Amino acid sequence: GGQPQTIKVVLLGEGRVGKTSLAQRYVRSSFNEGQAATVQAAFFTKAVRVQGQEIEVALWDTAGQEKFHSLGPIYYRDAHAALLVFDITDTDSFKRVKRWVDELHAMAGERCQLVIAANKQDLQHRSVSEEEAQEFAASQGAAYFQTSAKTGLGLEELFTALLSSVLDS
Ligand code: GTP
Repeated sequence: GGQPQTIKVVLLGEGRVGKTSLAQRYVRSSFNEGQAATVQAAFFTKAVRVQGQEIEVALWDTAGQEKFHSLGPIYYRDAHAALLVFDITDTDSFKRVKRWVDELHAMAGERCQLVIAANKQDLQHRSVSEEEAQEFAASQGAAYFQTSAKTGLGLEELFTALLSSVLDS
């Protein structure tokens, strides 16, 4: 018995990097080539078992467009983990992850775990170097995963590690 523990995760990153698509892939095992931009934020939940415990994952999928930037704190303030997403074919989206890391270090609670997802690994025309991205993540104490919302690459692994590190913290 007992209520499942809820782990709250916020998805942050530039518009079009694939935040909604990662949430859809993880929660519904689906992918939409024509995924529409998120307005303000969307909410998803998934029940999972981690380390023998029933967990409810509460995912806040924020809107990446700059005009929604100021809403960030509403969603990351009490998050257990922040999933920072960039698109490996878009160098600006990687710069945006660096800005989010700075903002989270300054503004989010100490307990908020940072996880970086290098998304769209199924695409060939990479413009952010894998080495640079990994080094940046390590320098910030963030976990790092290669993902594709299209193929599902890396997502189970990412969430298993994320949820375990929240439970262990
Ligand atoms: P905002 O809501 O504007 O913040 O965007 P978002 O980060 O939620 O991106 P979204 O999931 O809406 O995806 C944007 C576009 O990229 C859509 O056309 C998706 O189908 C596509 N996309 C997302 N993830 C992937 C991926 O891993 N690979 C490929 N090839 N396309 C992807």
